[in-house]
Amino acid sequence: MLLSVLPWIFSPFPSALAAQPSAPAPISASLRELEFGQLNFLHTTDTHGWLAGHLQEPSYSADWGDYVSFATRMREKVEAQGQDLLVVDTGDRVEGNGLYDSSAPKGVYLSEILRHQHIDVITSGNHELYKQNTSEAEFLTTVPNFRGKYLASNIDITHPETNELVPLAPRFKKFTTKQQGIRIVAFGFLFDFTGNYNNTVVQPVEKTIKEDWFQEAIRDKDVDLFLVAGHVPAHSPEYRAIFEEIRGIRWDTPIQFFGGHQHIRDYAKYDSKAFALASGRFMETIGFMSIDGLSTSDRPSTTSGPVFKRRYIDNNLYSFYHHTGLDEESFPTEKGRNVSQLITESRSALRLDRVHGCAPRTLWMSRVPYPHKDSVFTWLQTQVLPDSLKDESRGEVPSVAILNTGAIRFDIFQGQFTQDTIWTISPFTNSFRYVKDVPYEKVQLIMEVLNKQTKILDTFESGSSLPPLPRPENLARMEDFIVEEEEESLDTPIYDMAALHQAPISTNRQDNKIVPGYTTKDDAGTDGDDTLHSPISFYQVPNCIQALLSANTSGVPETVDLIYIEFIQPHLALAAKFAGLDVDFFQDSDVYMSSTTMTDLLLAWVKKHWKCE
Ligand SMILES: *[C@@H]1O[C@H](CO)[C@@H](O)[C@H](O)[C@H]1NC(C)=O
Ligand SMILES: *[C@@H]1O[C@H](CO)[C@@H](O)[C@H](O)[C@H]1NC(C)=O
Ligand SMILES: *[C@@H]1O[C@H](CO)[C@@H](O)[C@H](O)[C@H]1NC(C)=O
Ligand SMILES: *[C@@H]1O[C@H](CO)[C@@H](O)[C@H](O)[C@H]1NC(C)=O
Repeated sequence: MLLSVLPWIFSPFPSALAAQPSAPAPISASLRELEFGQLNFLHTTDTHGWLAGHLQEPSYSADWGDYVSFATRMREKVEAQGQDLLVVDTGDRVEGNGLYDSSAPKGVYLSEILRHQHIDVITSGNHELYKQNTSEAEFLTTVPNFRGKYLASNIDITHPETNELVPLAPRFKKFTTKQQGIRIVAFGFLFDFTGNYNNTVVQPVEKTIKEDWFQEAIRDKDVDLFLVAGHVPAHSPEYRAIFEEIRGIRWDTPIQFFGGHQHIRDYAKYDSKAFALASGRFMETIGFMSIDGLSTSDRPSTTSGPVFKRRYIDNNLYSFYHHTGLDEESFPTEKGRNVSQLITESRSALRLDRVHGCAPRTLWMSRVPYPHKDSVFTWLQTQVLPDSLKDESRGEVPSVAILNTGAIRFDIFQGQFTQDTIWTISPFTNSFRYVKDVPYEKVQLIMEVLNKQTKILDTFESGSSLPPLPRPENLARMEDFIVEEEEESLDTPIYDMAALHQAPISTNRQDNKIVPGYTTKDDAGTDGDDTLHSPISFYQVPNCIQALLSANTSGVPETVDLIYIEFIQPHLALAAKFAGLDVDFFQDSDVYMSSTTMTDLLLAWVKKHWKCE
């Protein structure tokens, strides 16, 4: 069953009018209004290639072309009042969706689509820097496409031609807004990231803010607002350090931070004149901010001081029409329509709608506990891995496969399983490796270590630069919510989304206008989301799962081939040391099922088992 063919009887928007032809129509809902101010912002972050929007989720079904129209209409609306609008994007635009990953070279369609949005400040995320050719494409294409807008306060890159280390983009800029001449000094940061390839250098934020250029920039007296955009969590030591550094010099100047990386909606209050907004992930959220009562070059600030307001807009046309006061006739701009068309053409060229099978039911990452019959991880453990992971050269030797849950990026919805689906759930190109003759009981110890969070591994080898194992969303939640009894926590919905940050999924019920979705709680309260949703329970999933494979004996084998996804080799090596297993994972491991990736396995399994009726 395709979601888009459900009869959306309450919706005034037939699906044909949604931007991507196959996108579902948004559902009408109760909305909180935007509170406009002197200076207004729209913000995206962690879009990870989802510029076509969500084709199976009505709440997030608008595409980048609609967002182009939305930004234009919002600008027209506020400028008619003599107010200003700025548009910000804070990185991780790459990796995670077929629109980016499935072209050769990666990103050639995406960067063409992206450039049509008028963005005032744009920064790099960590995903732009994992591979040499990704950061070089950023430097040679995206930075020039957003010349004068792209900022890189703490990133250098080895110039691909001259081999010299140069800033990825200018460190900062000063500009004044079009309508009111508000004087802004803007920065563009990345958190203290260490997993980049060695052609880039990410200087720690705490060190960068001691540099002369930064010190001079914050001593500028003719500034009405400091704008700190960055791929940095809203609540983070990095943003606290920047806040304190600026406040130390400018006790009174308002500071607006925009952040991301954790894939959550979040809002942090640093003081009464300094706030940070984070706007979710995957084109689910358009963040909105307004500031009123700022000083300008020829007008002192109002006595009441600045007032900050935030709103998280669900990325769909219903919200866009509502907030602009327009309708399907008056809302789209010619440019927005063209961009939607470009997305359709790109998807078609990449054959992203190609159907590989039909999922008989929805499989969730975290809306059910693990294990559970509707858990994507239970499905992998009990079906996909046992059916598919087999290297003929290993004969009948029993094996255990370890997979990090972060390798799966998204839920699988009931209905058509397309080329798009494969890229959204498994965008990474990791293959498998194995070590032989590992005692089964050691594997169990290793699993325990891996699942006791990375904190153990971090303290075991301090200064380690391992990428965190848990998914970004889980990391954010863990920091908010210290789990005392991990074993128990796996089965109970300890994360009630009403009490925590958010729940990312919205489902579709026509009999009730309140649909499940984001119910965000942040430093300003519980009224941040534009759309009124009912909360969703979220279950903690382990960092890693294991599957016992090809064991023909009853009971457990004594020793096994330990198979793992390449990405976790360093984690595994550390965990093995911790578990007292004397194996050198770098020397003693070998390729398993040569040149087969997780994505290949999944796809082959789906083609074989999930035939469409
Ligand atoms: C980087 O190289 C890989 C491997 O050759 C290729 O698949 C990918 O498309 C390249 N990415 C870019 C941005 O050029
Ligand atoms: C970067 O890493 C590669 C190996 O991936 C190595 O060959 C090269 O020497 C390193 N470059 C620098 C500048 O460290
Ligand atoms: C939209 O596309 C049409 C047809 O390609 C083109 O003629 C027109 O100039 C484009 N408009 C904008 C605003 O990009
Ligand atoms: C079971 O596995 C052993 C090796 O562990 C092998 O020698 C034996 O042939 C297998 N038996 C069957 C029925 O597959």
